Amino acid sequence: MKIRPDFLPLSKPALGGEEIAAVTRCLRSGWITTGPVCREFEQSFQELTGAARAVSFTSGTAAMQLLLAALEIGPGDEVITPSLTFASTVNMIALRGARPVFIDIDYPTLNMNPDLLEALITPRTRAVIPVHFAGAPADMPTITTIAKRHGLVVIEDAAHAVGTYCRDVHAGGSGWPAVFSFHPIKNITTGEGGMITLADEDLERRLRLLRFHGIERDAWKRYGKGGNPDYDIQAPGFKCNLPDVLAAIGVAQMAKWPELNRRRAELAGRYLAGLAGIDGLELPGSPVFPHVHAWHLFVVKVAAMSRERLMARLSEYNIGYGLHFPATHRLRYVRERFGDCAAALPETERAADRIVSLPLYPGMSDDDADYVCDAVREIL
Ligand SMILES: Cc1ncc(COP(=O)(O)O)c(C=O)c1O
Repeated sequence: MKIRPDFLPLSKPALGGEEIAAVTRCLRSGWITTGPVCREFEQSFQELTGAARAVSFTSGTAAMQLLLAALEIGPGDEVITPSLTFASTVNMIALRGARPVFIDIDYPTLNMNPDLLEALITPRTRAVIPVHFAGAPADMPTITTIAKRHGLVVIEDAAHAVGTYCRDVHAGGSGWPAVFSFHPIKNITTGEGGMITLADEDLERRLRLLRFHGIERDAWKRYGKGGNPDYDIQAPGFKCNLPDVLAAIGVAQMAKWPELNRRRAELAGRYLAGLAGIDGLELPGSPVFPHVHAWHLFVVKVAAMSRERLMARLSEYNIGYGLHFPATHRLRYVRERFGDCAAALPETERAADRIVSLPLYPGMSDDDADYVCDAVREIL
């Protein structure tokens, strides 16, 4: 086949005139840090998820850091999460002085296998963090039933899950705290940003304090007409508040997500058909329960050759790729600090050597997707 002259990237944010206009409006308004636009963005997440509350942050990682702090998870505590996730989650657990306990995955979907959950729970377990991997929902009803029985908090890692429904509940809609990310690769972006949706009023209050130095009121409220610029701090906080100028991008993106996800699903369908029946290539599996997949990523597993060889060959075809994710239990500090647990994670181990993410973003054309299918077929 003929090699395309231009590079097809793994991902590109879907930004246009609406985002530019929203940012311009914010810049002209005279208020660019956390204020009314952030609140509008938060409300759009309450509507999307059905959660009673939402709090925005500067990143998904910051959101997770502050949530673990607000829940007072710390030394001596254990948090169950898959190893096949972005390292940030495990970093945040480790930075709290807690121990990540890795749960093996369901190989086809790359989601945590809830059948293994109960056996990993000890008196030290505080929380379980399922990841809706690539936009495929984790089995929330099963996970939350077990968690409730043992008094654990469930934190949904919903970084990939704008538009993910488990049965008819959107990620973040089951009352447990859920952490979203708006990094540029995500289904909607603010450049960088994060959001926690939740039900608990007191937890929301603690998150808002931790988000902004421990100060009760945002600057927006303190510096408005008749505002009181004085403040007290009862406990020291961080500085992770999303500025309005970024939230403005998010508000514009939220108006578009159904169309963006529709296009992602269409492209994923094209991949599933175009890549079917290639020896040594496994396509993403679907959850067995009713769901809506957000198709954040399209992760294949290659057994016909080494993943590194496939990546090198994709480069020759001018195709970008990703690795979601290097298994965190294999990272050096994780092995040194928490021990080698590869033997307990056979399905993660099997997937970890094989996974490759192919280009997937709403601006891709059908021809782009067909080109990737033809190239992968020719390479393998
Ligand atoms: C599964 C997962 N969790 C957490 C994060 C962290 O989000 P952020 O990059 O916004 O800090 C990401 C993405 O970056 C992710 O993919």
